[in-house]
Amino acid sequence: MTAHVGQSMPLRRRAARPLLIVGAAMMALPLCWRAGAGFAGAATAPPLGWQSATARHAEPAAVAERPAAGQELTDNPRKQGLALMLDDGTRKSHSMAENTQFVTGFFKGLGDKASFSQLVASLYFVYEAMETAFETTADQQVRTLDYPALRRLAAIEEDLAYFYGPDWRSQIQPTAGARLYAERVAKVAAESPELLIAHQYTRYLGDLFGGQMMGGMAEKSLGLESGSGTSFYRFRDIPDPMAFITEWYTKLNALELSTAEKEAIVDEANLVFRLNIEIFEELEGSPFAAVWQLFSSSVRSSLGLA
Ligand code: HEM
Repeated sequence: MTAHVGQSMPLRRRAARPLLIVGAAMMALPLCWRAGAGFAGAATAPPLGWQSATARHAEPAAVAERPAAGQELTDNPRKQGLALMLDDGTRKSHSMAENTQFVTGFFKGLGDKASFSQLVASLYFVYEAMETAFETTADQQVRTLDYPALRRLAAIEEDLAYFYGPDWRSQIQPTAGARLYAERVAKVAAESPELLIAHQYTRYLGDLFGGQMMGGMAEKSLGLESGSGTSFYRFRDIPDPMAFITEWYTKLNALELSTAEKEAIVDEANLVFRLNIEIFEELEGSPFAAVWQLFSSSVRSSLGLA
């Protein structure tokens, strides 16, 4: 999961954000700094396959690249080109992801080890598919954005060994959501590899923005020993995440992609958010929902209500 604090967030809405984030964690309020339009609750999340045509392409690419009237000209790469299209075009999806019960529950400190380790297991199958695709793709644009320092699989394996023990491999199975996500990655890699850029963006940038804060929150709310089970959130080879993000966005904007290809990447990024939401929603549902259902049906039958 990704929830993010930019240590030195350089961009709009920055000044108040660290305080807001701490506030969110402490006051248990689901805040969304990326959502211009307020909260879109997870309950209203659209079905898989939904793509946010409404929110995103209100502006054609050429307009999105121009600063709006009154807006300062900037050389910040995040305010230009495909980086801007992705930021604007996935805002609504980001808000939905932030509002899943698992994520807000986690911020409230109600997360439990079982759910968290299941999340790590799901992420294993997702990153295994992603990083295999990045490793093997012939698409030069995807390769340009693929940095060894971003790779997460080895860190996830460390975390799995912490949660499940040395034979973790035999103990984890992909959930339906993780399988669907991994299948999507493989399909895109085979059919339209440039869409892998959306997968790089949604996961790695999210992870980078969140990084240390999420790791720290997990340790606190789950009572983990420092650094144990949270390697995923630490980018050991990226000492300055904001500088790295700026370099990554600059490379992203320099790619030679048509407007149609850029729009397809934004669509894919929205689908990737949805796939992530599915994974969080599975965590909400299990194992408590199942246990509760069993409990309540046995109570109902003992009361003669079944
Ligand atoms: C409670 C959960 C979350 C919180 C509080 C959160 C918060 C943030 C914040 C503060 C930023 C910096 C962006 C800005 O300055 O506007 C950000 C960026 C980002 N987040 Fe999250 N986030 C959460 C969950 C997620 C999830 C689940 C994903 C995807 C799996 C995600 C993907 C991203 C991406 C891709 C960016 C980069 C945005 C851009 O610059 O284009 N986030 N997030």
